[in-house]
Amino acid sequence: KVLIVDFGSQVTQLIARRLRELNVYCEIHPYTKATTALEAMQPQAVIFSGGPNSTTDADSPRVDHKIFEYGAPIFGICYGEQLICAELGGKVESGHDREFGRADISIVKDSPLFAGIAKAGENEPVWMSHGDRVTAIPEGFEVIATSEGAPYAAIANTEKKIYAVQFHPEVMHTPRGAEMLKNFVYNIAGLTGDWTMAAYREEQVAKIREQVGDAKVICGLSGGVDSSVAAVLIHEAIGDQLTCVFVDTGLLRKDEATQVTTLFREHYNIPLVHVDASDRFLGELAGISDPETKRKTIGRLFIEVFDEESSKIEGAEFLAQGTLYPDVIESLSASGGPSQVIKSHHNVGGLPDYMKLKLVEPLRELFKDEVRALGRELGLTEAFVGRHPFPGPGLAIRIPGEITPDAVATLQDADAIYLDEIRKAGLYNEIWQAFAVLLPVKTVGVMGDARTYEKVLALRAVTSTDGMTADFFQFPWEVLARTATRIINQVPGVNRVVYDVTSKPPGTIEWE
Ligand code: XMP
Repeated sequence: KVLIVDFGSQVTQLIARRLRELNVYCEIHPYTKATTALEAMQPQAVIFSGGPNSTTDADSPRVDHKIFEYGAPIFGICYGEQLICAELGGKVESGHDREFGRADISIVKDSPLFAGIAKAGENEPVWMSHGDRVTAIPEGFEVIATSEGAPYAAIANTEKKIYAVQFHPEVMHTPRGAEMLKNFVYNIAGLTGDWTMAAYREEQVAKIREQVGDAKVICGLSGGVDSSVAAVLIHEAIGDQLTCVFVDTGLLRKDEATQVTTLFREHYNIPLVHVDASDRFLGELAGISDPETKRKTIGRLFIEVFDEESSKIEGAEFLAQGTLYPDVIESLSASGGPSQVIKSHHNVGGLPDYMKLKLVEPLRELFKDEVRALGRELGLTEAFVGRHPFPGPGLAIRIPGEITPDAVATLQDADAIYLDEIRKAGLYNEIWQAFAVLLPVKTVGVMGDARTYEKVLALRAVTSTDGMTADFFQFPWEVLARTATRIINQVPGVNRVVYDVTSKPPGTIEWE
């Protein structure tokens, strides 16, 4: 077991993720609870995360010295390194140039931390992000790597097995950072990688039971992978204390509502309330063209409908959500962080306070691909867990301009053909997300001998690892050609198909 002490870095979860990839169990606890966690967990290693503070401030985050006396190997990252130095008799100063981004460290001494990566005299690229720097190291420590901006880029006390680095080994931009973490947990701390998704499932089941007791839980099901995996997991833990509420906005992909209800009711025997609210959604959306107004209207209606339905479920104390770690990060930055709101996402931020439901969020620590792995573990089919992400506001944000029931039906048909062709071509799993967008633009065409004047349909397909950045997918032309022909022949109201070749940034994945 590894205890990760969190000092508030934006990327602390990435440390946990890297350890899970090594099949090592870990828990993240805030620095304020580090001692309690240490006693409860009895970990074989401790990692200090980075953080936004400066140890030169009197009230900066600290830890109890028990953590050093406990004797397990410690690995400090960024603020973690500064903290180790400040606490054990070294020196940290601010006021130097800040260092952000790629840097090269020079290894000055062979170290188990860099075993198999770089030897003394060699350089290694890393990702730096710090304002303060260590200017003197505590007794018993030696420097094992330096960089231009950080004379103590990596330090070690080999006897006490305390290692610390100024850079971030947990991010992808440090190409061999995962190997450094591996060296620390396997070679230095002597852990073995024997923890799996099956173990995660068991732990979460136990945790859910403990949290919920014999209370009732409501789960808002969207039909997507995340809420489905959460629901199946929670059902495994508490059985029929769980009721799923599926708000059908009428803005889902073709046939999806039926697929979801069948899967849950028939395959899993999970109690499911299917609320067909399509008339209400389409009614309120009539006449609205502005993308943000659409999103806000849908978000509000969703809450209203969900609220009405869930108030019918007596004695419900908990609300289950399929919140993932990237949502947690995004909603943190949405609530007062420095980043600008590009789109007001619905289904993060959750429900209004007056509902007074406590949250159960068993996927809060996971990334999308880990949720898929957990879904497989729970017996969901490959086709189901591999489904492309689908946004909460659904097809509404794929119909620029006014939304009408006809437009939704047209888009559903065209989208189904597009996805069918992608599947037939064996490309579905190579694509992060593919969908059609029905434009409010009409163009002239000719079919048979007759003039047509109908709408344009845009096809979008992107590759991505997290949805934050994306590239347009390079289809073989034949696939696009077949798709276009089928759509124009089979979907009335569309006489032209175009392909979107914009990456993100500067585009976003969705059109609104
Ligand atoms: P954008 O369009 O911002 O989308 O590049 C990034 C990813 O997020 C999805 N998306 C949403 N997901 N609620 C969601 O649950 C939303 O309101 C929402 N808007 C966009 C989008 O499909 C893509 O995967």
